[in-house]
Amino acid sequence: MIKVLFICLGNICRSPTGEGVFDALIKSEGLGDLISVDSAGTAAYHVGEPPDSRSQAAALRRGIDMSHQKARRVRADDFVEFDYLMAMDHDNLNNLLAICPPGLEHKIHLMLDFAEGVEERSVPDPYYTGGNGFEVVLDLIENASQGLLGDIRDKHL
Ligand code: 4NP
Repeated sequence: MIKVLFICLGNICRSPTGEGVFDALIKSEGLGDLISVDSAGTAAYHVGEPPDSRSQAAALRRGIDMSHQKARRVRADDFVEFDYLMAMDHDNLNNLLAICPPGLEHKIHLMLDFAEGVEERSVPDPYYTGGNGFEVVLDLIENASQGLLGDIRDKHL
């Protein structure tokens, strides 16, 4: 089993979207028994909460139900348990590197390093900006999810 963890700041907007989009993708590809997906936040502000209602609504318009998800914080054993730790932005990446046990840094990636034809490297945080930010998050994550799945297929399947 290849285990993928999506990480943002609050675990209520971007990383739950990563979890929802990637889970739908692997299931549509018949890979649900080979790849598992989870998400977490670097901060604890929203622990125990479901994804932001705006994120849920945007995902649902694309057929993805995230209502069962609950926010949690990244923990030390995530670096051992998961094969891919996918940071949504540079702050998340730096925060993960700061707490990563020595020797496991290679598991941490910037999500948009797997996206194609996209200049930005950070998925913009839509929490305070709102607007079409939730659609932008979905577009970027759908794009990068294809590249991530390609990487997993190349290296592990
Ligand atoms: P996320 O968005 O990191 O994509 O889940 C945020 C959600 C909440 C906060 C910040 C970012 N907050 O400061 O409460």
